[in-house]
Amino acid sequence: GAFGGNKVDYVFKTVLIGDSAVGKSQLLARFSRNEFSMDSKSTIGVEFQTRTVEIDHKSVKAQIWDTAGQERYRAVTSAYYRGAVGAMLVYDITKRQSFDHMARWLEELRGHADKNIVIMLVGNKSDLETHRDVSTEDAKEFAQMENLYFMETSALEATNVEQAFLTVLTEIY
Ligand code: GTP
Ligand code: MG
Repeated sequence: GAFGGNKVDYVFKTVLIGDSAVGKSQLLARFSRNEFSMDSKSTIGVEFQTRTVEIDHKSVKAQIWDTAGQERYRAVTSAYYRGAVGAMLVYDITKRQSFDHMARWLEELRGHADKNIVIMLVGNKSDLETHRDVSTEDAKEFAQMENLYFMETSALEATNVEQAFLTVLTEIY
């Protein structure tokens, strides 16, 4: 709000999901703290970060939850999704398998989350264009079919990270 007030008008819980090593935690680090680490460790359990942004003159606190892509490190699924109004479904553009798994992640998400949840399909590591294994067209087609927003991002280069999160938050709003 104006004049340094710290009133929060809305809190929007958003969840990150996708295979291990696609860059979920680094997307979150980039968005919440403008940081990036090359030697990021696998997430164990659940972590979250917040960042407050202004949307339409309202103060919106994004509470972004991050968990492990690996099954054995994951937290209780239903608690993770409870109350989420946004989701980022993340794959790595250099790992076809991480994209092929999107259907499964989407199924889990739709099975647990609110039916009005705003979902963004995110193809991360767009800086690794020379190693690309998933075409933009394939991803667009999947997103269109499943009614998802879609963006390619690079947490490393800070490309589209802000845009991806802000699009979800704005659509929730
Ligand atoms: P889990 O916690 O195991 O589910 O993995 P994660 O999806 O959180 O992956 P994480 O953010 O830890 O990133 C995995 C590796 O990919 C790390 O070495 C990161 O530095 C790297 N990485 C993340 N984002 C990018 C990116 O945009 N470009 C490149 N080149 N590397 C990235
Ligand atoms: Mg992680």
